[in-house]
Amino acid sequence: MSGDYEQFIYKIKIKSGIDLALYKEAQMKRRLTSLYEKKGYNSFEEYFSTINRDQELFNEFLDRITINVSEFYRNNKRWEVLEKNILPKILQRTKRPKLWSAACSSGEEPYTLAMIMSNFMPLTDVRILATDIDENILARAKLGIYPERSLQEAPEDMKKKFFTKDGSFYKVSEEVKRAVSFKKHNLLSDPYGGPYDLIVCRNVLIYFTEEAKDLIYHKFSQCLNPGGILFVGSTEQIFNAGQYGFEAEDTFFYKKCL
Ligand SMILES: C[S@@+](CC[C@H](N)C(=O)[O-])C[C@H]1O[C@@H](n2cnc3c(N)ncnc32)[C@H](O)[C@@H]1O
Repeated sequence: MSGDYEQFIYKIKIKSGIDLALYKEAQMKRRLTSLYEKKGYNSFEEYFSTINRDQELFNEFLDRITINVSEFYRNNKRWEVLEKNILPKILQRTKRPKLWSAACSSGEEPYTLAMIMSNFMPLTDVRILATDIDENILARAKLGIYPERSLQEAPEDMKKKFFTKDGSFYKVSEEVKRAVSFKKHNLLSDPYGGPYDLIVCRNVLIYFTEEAKDLIYHKFSQCLNPGGILFVGSTEQIFNAGQYGFEAEDTFFYKKCL
């Protein structure tokens, strides 16, 4: 690791508590170098002294490190598996499952979960905790207004039921919004709470080092009820699930052993 980047990581950790050393280095360094070069800076040192003084530039930095792309019903075949095979089993064990969407970005994922839960129980009984490290994105999630492309995988009946169209944007219904509580949370440093019956954590672990992933899988396992499920992204298979006390329940679904 170059000394310049190493120093930058150290200062960012002191300033914000965010540990960039736990994100894959080559990828993160490339993203940040291209950002500061575009702005006319020549080193991480120079870049840090600017973002340290200017909140707006610091927010831009945060925006760069958190890759916020999301969609309703992302990889919708997986959500079908959740609805048909996974949730019925969870609901056999508990009528009020505790649900967590971790690294929820702009809210498409927890809102999708709420819509699916509405097929099993009244939405007024559904409670989903949705967390992300990025406060700006959480503010957008709470707004619940999305461009059409965010809904391209959403089933037509769900679109009709839970969205109102406003120009070229779609607004999520208030009853869906009320089922979800958004909170700031860093998967790498904050306590996990629980116990949960389902954790959805998709398309974020790919950015972390093996060491960080290992820590997170352990923590997920510890905060799930026995029989609880971890639902990961479609490129995030856990190859050594047993070492965390998980067994594969279906592709991309891991059950905490009883
Ligand atoms: C690509 S989005 C995934 C959104 C959603 N889970 C999905 O699959 O569509 C990754 C999210 O992870 C969040 N993130 C990055 N590092 C994080 C951390 N240490 N703790 C919590 N969230 C983090 C980012 O802010 C971003 O919103």
